[in-house]
Amino acid sequence: MAEKAAPAAPAPGRRAQHWDPGRYQRNAGFVAALGAPLLDLLKPQAGEDILDLGCGDGALTIRLIEMGAKVVAVDASAEQIAAARARGLDARVMDGQALTFDAAFDGVLSNAALHWMPDADAVIAGVWRALRPGGRFVAEMGGFGNVGLVVAALTAALARRGVDAAPLNPWYFPSDKEYRAKLEAAGFRVDSIALIPRPTPQPGDVRAWLETFGDSFLSAVPPETVGALLDEVAEALRPDLQDEDGVWQVDYVRLRFHARKPA
Ligand code: BEZ
Repeated sequence: MAEKAAPAAPAPGRRAQHWDPGRYQRNAGFVAALGAPLLDLLKPQAGEDILDLGCGDGALTIRLIEMGAKVVAVDASAEQIAAARARGLDARVMDGQALTFDAAFDGVLSNAALHWMPDADAVIAGVWRALRPGGRFVAEMGGFGNVGLVVAALTAALARRGVDAAPLNPWYFPSDKEYRAKLEAAGFRVDSIALIPRPTPQPGDVRAWLETFGDSFLSAVPPETVGALLDEVAEALRPDLQDEDGVWQVDYVRLRFHARKPA
């Protein structure tokens, strides 16, 4: 397999997300834990070659290996890849929008990563090249409307500080119709694709979620004012996102699909 390291460059106006594996494991362990439906959809067979696209710290990669697959894991974050390698995984720094594999895999799995890759056509073209004929592309990502309340509260709080949040938004949350059209235009047969609303309980509060995932927005204000911004956003979201037991439920909407490269 050919490979090269090609970390993603942030679009102008956005600061690249910085991944801190320790903070990720504390605040985002639920991401891999909620990946089970994706494994059921992929149904990896023992001995199959699988690419884990956007593997993060490799928590879901390990589940694939436990199921008998031979897995290569890639992520644009050198910090996350270091954490994945520390688990003993074959993990490589690579931008998902510039994959360099050719007919090397029976399946490509991606969990909670594709929404960080705004050039969806480049991702899909790279996955197509990476798959052998008959190979499947199974993924879950943020879909249309994902974290809509969080983005609205952030946008309002930043606007009160004279900051336009729109160019800072690093996420791509397509509809099922839009992503299906992209997959089919590339030649994939789409077996299933659906938007699935899934309010997601958090191990901490919404401030921790924003500190883990919201670098692009938070870096737009002076560091000494970030705490006040987080407090304001959390208070605005509390009535909608904190349940009667005090648990914060972030307003996730998943886009989940199973597509196949014809044999
Ligand atoms: C998601 O998994 O939907 C997600 C995670 C972090 C930021 C935005 C979306």
